[in-house]
Amino acid sequence: MKGVILAGGLGSRLYPLTYATNKHLLPIYNKPMVFYPIQTLVNAGIKEIMVVTGGPHAGDFLRVLKNGEGLGVDKMVYSYQEGEGGISAALILAEKFAAGDSVCVILGDNTTDADISKDVQDFKSGAKIFLKKVPDPERFGVPVFENDKIVRIEEKPKSPKSDYAVTGLYIYDKKCFDFIRELKPSDRGELEISDLNNKYIDIGELEFSELTGYWRDAGTFNTILEAGNYWFNKSQTQLK
Ligand code: DAU
Repeated sequence: MKGVILAGGLGSRLYPLTYATNKHLLPIYNKPMVFYPIQTLVNAGIKEIMVVTGGPHAGDFLRVLKNGEGLGVDKMVYSYQEGEGGISAALILAEKFAAGDSVCVILGDNTTDADISKDVQDFKSGAKIFLKKVPDPERFGVPVFENDKIVRIEEKPKSPKSDYAVTGLYIYDKKCFDFIRELKPSDRGELEISDLNNKYIDIGELEFSELTGYWRDAGTFNTILEAGNYWFNKSQTQLK
């Protein structure tokens, strides 16, 4: 399985922090944000990783990640997303890199200490998503359940039908790229990852499990701080 980190976008929600560099290179405690999803992939045994980035500071990634050796990555490659066409638009740029393999995709602003190695090992086909109970589901993709099954995923619903967020960790088989070609831009003009997941629901091939451990989408000032505090506290406990 190949790994893909999606770290495109302009990061305009985080101005003035992102005037000088890419959002995913901002610090979460003692590491650049993007180190965390890379570590999650490496810990799951995935050593070939593509980073999809974009915007005016894309070159900063090379200076920080280089060839990925220090991070336990065997092969680090990069792609460039023009504009902010959405998460699925970023993912399709990894099609040639995936070369028919399945892909484990993590959004570059997601930080977790969950171990997904078993999910990676056991994955055969279709798609797998990871859920987490949150107090503010309206900020996320939210699953709608019927008889314990997910019947659809709603992106940032005003009235969420469950208190779960779809986290930014996904596993897809090679069909994902054909499905993305069928997607239409949403009302906010993006090819949504939730619409890709809905395609897998339509064919009865979306599996899910609850992510065990800490998880934050560090895409706001507050969650950058919260995530930093979590990793700081964890490092202090490990020292004891
Ligand atoms: O974090 C989980 C959530 O991430 C999911 O629950 C949502 O379903 C999903 O849409 C996404 O929501 P966000 O509002 O957090 O997405 P955001 O626009 O902040 O983008 C998250 C990351 O995806 C970002 O750090 C980089 C990558 N991205 C995003 C866009 C729009 C790209 O690589 N290219 C893009 O065009």
